[in-house]
Amino acid sequence: MNFPMNGYPVIRKRRNRRTAFIRSLTNEFNVSSKDLILPIFLVKGKNKKQKIESMDNVFRYSIDKAIEVLSSAFESGITTTILFPYVEPQEKDLEASEAYNPKGLIQEAITKIKLALPRLGVITDIALDPFTTHGHDGVLNQDGQVDNDLTIEILKKQALTHANAGADILAPSDMMDGRISLIRKFLDSNRFENINLLSYSAKFASSFYGPFRDAVGSNINLGNADKKTYQMNPANINESLHEAWHDINEGADMIMVKPGMPYLDVLASLKKEFKVPTFVYQVSGEYSMLVSLANKDLNILENVVMESMICFKRSGADAIITYFAKEISDWINR
Ligand code: PBG
Repeated sequence: MNFPMNGYPVIRKRRNRRTAFIRSLTNEFNVSSKDLILPIFLVKGKNKKQKIESMDNVFRYSIDKAIEVLSSAFESGITTTILFPYVEPQEKDLEASEAYNPKGLIQEAITKIKLALPRLGVITDIALDPFTTHGHDGVLNQDGQVDNDLTIEILKKQALTHANAGADILAPSDMMDGRISLIRKFLDSNRFENINLLSYSAKFASSFYGPFRDAVGSNINLGNADKKTYQMNPANINESLHEAWHDINEGADMIMVKPGMPYLDVLASLKKEFKVPTFVYQVSGEYSMLVSLANKDLNILENVVMESMICFKRSGADAIITYFAKEISDWINR
């Protein structure tokens, strides 16, 4: 850009901030309800709405209740959900076998939600952590290490049951190497060549996931262990580019950055470098931070949440997973 050498007083940047309509006309980014993905935590049973201690105003729902919540979200303009299960302790084992039970909670939920709300997009998490007794995203080998290739064999089975149940987009989230290509090939050989893969490409070993682990009930199982042998080092941005490059080459249709707000630089870099659909996950810890900042003042909550959404869009996010999705669409519609 080659501007003339005029400065103040000819140039006054504040002119374009003078009134609300001028600010709107010169506004660079907008957030639409259609960009938002609403996470839903599911629990077995009927007519259940369980409080999650660490996430104020977020609940675990039985499938019937989840459908009510999702219909009202759909009416307000939300087009997509992402499902997570709370798995009962007695259903967990070392091999995560409940993950690929065709009659499991998630599989049943997918079918019932698609039946009730056929136009609502359903994304599912492809990962084993809710289902393992040790809380890791993979199965362990004899040395107690998370075994990459054994884990992928189970992910493939999990993915196929979700596809069979009617999921629209599968989201492998465990950072195992090669999972995108192996899941893609397996789905294709089972005639699911049209189901999309949303890869968590840049998922960091973050301390912002705490409340989520409470919500899906993996915190007790994980104990003091961490996920640093598979999730990425928060210090590494070059590595996130390599991860995304591999995932795109392996057949990912969309990529994701997670967490969101502390990783806007990663989001912006991936979008700029690859120009593929790039999503961001505003995770549970970010949710709780914003809720406590607002301290029950709904005006403050709206302002900080909407600011965080604009910052995601400005950094290149195409879609945003956020626990505030319903509130945001209500604010937008008002
Ligand atoms: C793991 C998974 C995690 C989240 C979603 N899927 C993180 C983890 O436990 O490592 C976190 C989401 C959030 O914090 O909101 N498969």
